[in-house]
Amino acid sequence: MIDAKTVTRLDTQAQQILRANDRGGYTVPTKGLYPFQWNWDSALTALGIACFDADRAWQEIEKLLSAQWDNGMVPHIVFWQHEEGYFPGPSEWQSGRTPPTSGITQPPVAATVVRQLTNFLPGDHRARVTPMLRALDRWHQWFADARDPDGIGVVAIMHPWESGRDNLPDWDAPLAQVDTSNVGAFMRRDTQLVNAAERPLNHDYDHYMALVQFGRDCQWDVKTIAEKCPFWVAEPGMNAILRRAERDLVALALHFNLPDIATRANTRLARLDHGFNQLWSDIAQGYTTLDLRKNKIEHRLSSGSWLSLYGGPENDIRAKIHYSTLMEWRQKVRFAMPSFAPGDPAFDDIRYWRGPVWAMINWMIATGLAEHGRPDLADQLADDTAALIEQSAFREYFSPVTGKGGGGKDFSWTAAMWLYWASPNARQQTETH
Ligand code: GLC
Repeated sequence: MIDAKTVTRLDTQAQQILRANDRGGYTVPTKGLYPFQWNWDSALTALGIACFDADRAWQEIEKLLSAQWDNGMVPHIVFWQHEEGYFPGPSEWQSGRTPPTSGITQPPVAATVVRQLTNFLPGDHRARVTPMLRALDRWHQWFADARDPDGIGVVAIMHPWESGRDNLPDWDAPLAQVDTSNVGAFMRRDTQLVNAAERPLNHDYDHYMALVQFGRDCQWDVKTIAEKCPFWVAEPGMNAILRRAERDLVALALHFNLPDIATRANTRLARLDHGFNQLWSDIAQGYTTLDLRKNKIEHRLSSGSWLSLYGGPENDIRAKIHYSTLMEWRQKVRFAMPSFAPGDPAFDDIRYWRGPVWAMINWMIATGLAEHGRPDLADQLADDTAALIEQSAFREYFSPVTGKGGGGKDFSWTAAMWLYWASPNARQQTETH
């Protein structure tokens, strides 16, 4: 149990971080390492901002959606201002847009966040929310058209960075198919800012850059990407998050009387709900990554596997399997949820997405658990997240084994998840709602 004084101190600190990372209408994930607007960071950060400034929380989403491409995609990074030396920056992506952006997307949590905000914040949101819902509908339609052109019911990613779980061992095999012989030399900046042992290896970065070059060489043409991109995989995190986003968009559209959006979102949702089963691995007993180029399913679980519960209603048999594998993992470490299978040879408790705990993934898994009638397990995740923050402050991520913090400091989404969810004060508020 965290004492009341510490809670107050952490509440104050979390607010200070969100204010300090505010660049005027958008919030950077952390200063230095990530100096622009990131897509899902921004959406999740809005939940924390909403705890002290409702208007500013809405702005965060509006600003993100204002960078939407003509084809509907909402990019993963928006380069609102120039920042010398950031790699890969606007000249690598060559989006041809103003402001410049990256050429890929990230998990679409925004619709879910908008729904949470409309429930959480007082007032009549119709005028403000309607244009956001139109933009979200176009983005979700882009997922259906560009990332599942054959209508198989799962959307693909063309780059590990689209998953938001950049360095997951799931990408190792599909990335090995990517030719890096023309990548050339480049200078990374991340390893000058944080400990190299916590960041992806140079070998991984060569592959990441080869995929950026592939996209830019075809001017980010979605048809060419779907047909020829050497990396084309469907994974449970992105697909579960999109399913939930479609569900939330349907609810919002009905609430705000926008039946055309509700109809389209429902059609897309039915396809995704049906398709998700393709990601089930009998061997792993959970949802894993499917390499669509090789039609090969991964047999190791990751924290994304439990996002199935967040994506939508799970059948009883599988839900029970999720609970028991979750408890098995929890017994192997001190803090839930590791991003990758503890005990697997590829597990690394402090290296990027190969083991560490992220607060916002914990929030999503906990949300799904609570909705499936397991508030006990949801609370355990909130307790673990709070304990990690108490021990190591608002770091980018944490070791599930030691609780040590890793990556960037004063991180926006960690602060936001504290304020909105993990802080004992946030939990009291939810109970009285
Ligand atoms: C890393 C993470 C990604 C996040 C970004 C900014 O790239 O893997 O999920 O959006 O950092 O925090």
